[in-house]
Amino acid sequence: MNASAAKVEPTPKVEAGPVAQTVPVAEAGPGAEAGRKIYMSFCVRCHGVNLAVSSPAFFDLRTFPRDDKERFVRSVSKGVRAMPAWGGIVQPTDIDALWSYVGSVNGWKADAANSGNSDVKAK
Ligand code: HEC
Repeated sequence: MNASAAKVEPTPKVEAGPVAQTVPVAEAGPGAEAGRKIYMSFCVRCHGVNLAVSSPAFFDLRTFPRDDKERFVRSVSKGVRAMPAWGGIVQPTDIDALWSYVGSVNGWKADAANSGNSDVKAK
């Protein structure tokens, strides 16, 4: 509609910490793949490759309740006990992608994970 003089603005730069530059933020492709990259940058050192945690001191994300995305978002952005807050580092869309990634590793149905609808039982 308003095609005359669209203002072209430079892509806003995400404020990046020293390790953030390698994270392409969910620009294309399925969220789970973007989430995997973010996970490999920020989470893997504690939560393990493919969520296979190396010590019970770190929460085993394979056991995270799949119908509680709210808790996931809250815990990741604000931190919980020994887990640091990531809210200033990963953006809300990144947390969505991380959630998709956790769901994909755990074999959750994407639609169930998104809607919080837990009456879909696989198998
Ligand atoms: C420095 C180590 C460390 C890193 C890095 C880390 N975590 Fe954690 N995380 C923990 C620990 C420790 C816990 C357990 C906290 C507790 O319950 O005492 C935890 C718990 C969690 C939980 C469960 C919280 C709950 O509601 O019980 C989630 C979800 C989580 N982490 C996601 C992530 C994600 C996503 C990332 C990457 C952005 C990440 N963590 C990076 C240490 C870490």
